[in-house]
Amino acid sequence: MSTAQDGGLVLITDVVNQVVDTLNDSFDGHYTHSDAMVTPASNLKFGDYQCNAAMKLAKPLKMKPRDVASILVTELNAKMAGEFEELEIAGPGFINMKLQRSYLERAVQTMAADSERLGIPKSPNPKKIVVDFSSPNIAKEMHVGHLRSTIIGDTLANLLTFKGHSVLRLNHVGDWGTQFGMLVEHLKDEFPAALTGDENVDLGNLVILYKAAKKRFDDDDDFKVRAREGVVRLQSGDEESLAAWRCLCATSRKEYAKIYDLLSIENLEERGESFYNDMLKGVVEDLEEQGLAKKSEGAMAVFLDGYANKDGTPLPLLVKKSDGGFNYATTDLAAITQRTQQEKADRVLYVTDSGQAQHFKMVFEAAKLAGMLNDGVSLEHVPFGLVQGEDGKKFATRSGDTVKLMDLLQESIRIATNDVGGREVEGWQDGQELPEEFKRTAKIVGISAVKYADLSMNRESNYKFSYGRMLSLQGNTAPYMLYARARICSIVKKASGLEGVAEGSMIWPEPAPVLLGEETEIELARQLAKFGDVLYDVEEELYPNRLCDYLFETSQKFSAFYESCSVIKAETEELKASRLTLAVTTAKVLTKGLGLLGIEVVDRL
Ligand code: ARG
Repeated sequence: MSTAQDGGLVLITDVVNQVVDTLNDSFDGHYTHSDAMVTPASNLKFGDYQCNAAMKLAKPLKMKPRDVASILVTELNAKMAGEFEELEIAGPGFINMKLQRSYLERAVQTMAADSERLGIPKSPNPKKIVVDFSSPNIAKEMHVGHLRSTIIGDTLANLLTFKGHSVLRLNHVGDWGTQFGMLVEHLKDEFPAALTGDENVDLGNLVILYKAAKKRFDDDDDFKVRAREGVVRLQSGDEESLAAWRCLCATSRKEYAKIYDLLSIENLEERGESFYNDMLKGVVEDLEEQGLAKKSEGAMAVFLDGYANKDGTPLPLLVKKSDGGFNYATTDLAAITQRTQQEKADRVLYVTDSGQAQHFKMVFEAAKLAGMLNDGVSLEHVPFGLVQGEDGKKFATRSGDTVKLMDLLQESIRIATNDVGGREVEGWQDGQELPEEFKRTAKIVGISAVKYADLSMNRESNYKFSYGRMLSLQGNTAPYMLYARARICSIVKKASGLEGVAEGSMIWPEPAPVLLGEETEIELARQLAKFGDVLYDVEEELYPNRLCDYLFETSQKFSAFYESCSVIKAETEELKASRLTLAVTTAKVLTKGLGLLGIEVVDRL
């Protein structure tokens, strides 16, 4: 039973979920799949996997956790007949699962045979998932926070797509706030060509333009009045204002496109705040009718239980300003309706800095109270911490200015260029131009170092940005992972006699039956067989660092295996073929894992 009908793997996690579902039927649906909590065991002494479901189930079932565990064990044994060497109930009700060697052998072989999916099944419950990420603000600089959102969001979207979900990647750009009043009015004076409907008018540097408009707004009272009226004109559809606004959006879009291009971000659909403009009035009316939105100092606000300012006064969720404009939250409420009703999303993920945690908590609660959510729809904020300078202070250039993303990425590529040049080019001098064949490598190393440094951190913690650390060949870094993978590929090529044939792309030898004998061999096989469960975990919990940790451990387990087990000089041909299959599977796991993290691989480093 280790392989499904279609020849792929069966995930232990899916089996536990099935067992839980049968229990659920008799126990009234207290359980969700993320409660199954099957995790690869932290210590091999406890077996291969651990399942903590009994503790979660015990309370709603009014049973002792150990009794629940014993029901689970009986069911699991029945489902996985013969695959477990042992199912042990430990402590309060943990289930430790140890798999048969034959299971591991078949699992690895199945994985080796499938470069595309590594035998990993798609989710048995495919969902429609919106991932709202990146989301910079028009006419403003895209900052490191947006970079984190872009990298994390892209990874989650890749992984969910791989798991068979239908994923809509949305760029919720800030393109509709009050600041557009002053920007549009400023354009009318300074760039009249922008009013003609030509989106390609050169507006120069948007940061300078923004500053100039802001200065006028602050210094000049007449302009301030004009700007305020300008927002109303724009939002009510005045053609000239719209033309200027489109021109601003187009200019910003070109800037973002350069960053997305460098980061290879694809299929990110721009659907900014302006998209929801027509729905805003209705949202507020609806909240008012339901008695949820009330007048508050001329504005309209929703008051939710349990939210207070520091001084104890209630904290309102503002949905309409005193001047009639709408708020950030109003747009998010409209977007929730649109995404759940029109897009039919089952799950909506919002990847932003943790500073917006309270905003989303309040918005989600308001949406629920207002009956905007159908049963089973899940709105999830995916928060992340700050990027800091190496000194732990605000991330900035030496002169204290904010770091431009383009400069940051180019700097990483520049360092990678020198690293690659130093290794590959005789008599290399920093700053020299790389031979064409290495340029791609340097770019991949530079970009992936930035991505991996971000993804390998628990996203909720702050991290210190350090080119030195992220570009190091040692430790849990992109260069190390790329190197480890390239090394395994070259071992595979050499051992399989395919060397030379496959420069530029791997030709994988046919997988052979896997025979596990040595301790390090078994450890590697166990590690490989866990890949699907790790992906399941990230699919549920949304922590990409768990995938990075897994890939790093995998490369280490491979090293231990390679040190103690000879591949080329294995005692028998069968053993050689088996070990080669272990190496192939490892390389494929790393390739797939890095691919999901948005990291392109190179054949040599
Ligand atoms: N534009 C916002 C910012 O720069 C992020 C938007 C996140 N998405 C959302 N639906 N609110 O912080």
